[in-house]
Amino acid sequence: MPNFFALIPAAGSGSRMGDELPKQYLSLAGKPMIYHALRILCSSSRITCVFVVLAPGDEEWLRHDWSDFSGKLEVLECGGATRAESVLNGLKAARGVSSIGDDDWVLVHDAARPCLAEMQLDKLLDELADDKVGGLLAVPVADTLKRGDASRRVEHTESRESLWQAQTPQMFRYQLLVEALSMMGGVTMTDDAGAIEALGLHPKLVLSDARNLKVTYPQDLALAELILRNP
Ligand code: CTP
Ligand code: MG
Repeated sequence: MPNFFALIPAAGSGSRMGDELPKQYLSLAGKPMIYHALRILCSSSRITCVFVVLAPGDEEWLRHDWSDFSGKLEVLECGGATRAESVLNGLKAARGVSSIGDDDWVLVHDAARPCLAEMQLDKLLDELADDKVGGLLAVPVADTLKRGDASRRVEHTESRESLWQAQTPQMFRYQLLVEALSMMGGVTMTDDAGAIEALGLHPKLVLSDARNLKVTYPQDLALAELILRNP
């Protein structure tokens, strides 16, 4: 039976957040933001090991206490210039520090999604464990979508039918994901599924909900804190 591993890319700078401190370390419900993603993944008995990918020279990581996760957590200081690069570097480095095999599952989860619920995580594992390709948590688009022009005038309304917002975790087999990300070359994908799609494969959309938000802008922090405090 394949095992499940998790990998958290955490080598971004949080430019849209606009804080000097990379957003994964901003305080949220009394802990650095990334603590919450680590807690949910490390506490799952179904996950063998959680890798976290830091930017080389990250000094902030050592300023915090991660002993809650000892035994389950592997820190890799090999982040790259893009999220895809960080994930690929992390996957390669994971080989050197764990027993991860070609057919094992890897759940890639953003450090900036602190509100992932145990129920959503279990649902993803249950729905994809026997899948050929893998997939991701996602939510059907709820709002009406407008295409805007350069002067911020509506050009037209886009149909939202069949449109989904991609979340993480995104779950693929180790070797397939390494191959897919290696093939991307210069093309930047903002998620892992995009690289799998470029191989002509069709990741499965596993229904999630809006609580698993990505903290991107300053105003997202209060919302994330509210969700964390009222699970
Ligand atoms: N990430 C990474 N390496 C990069 C860029 C991003 O590991 N070179 C990680 C981030 O740390 C985050 C996840 O990928 O956990 C999702 O990226 P995003 O929300 O875009 O975070 P940032 O890139 O840090 O933010 P921004 O795009 O606003 O700069
Ligand atoms: Mg980014």
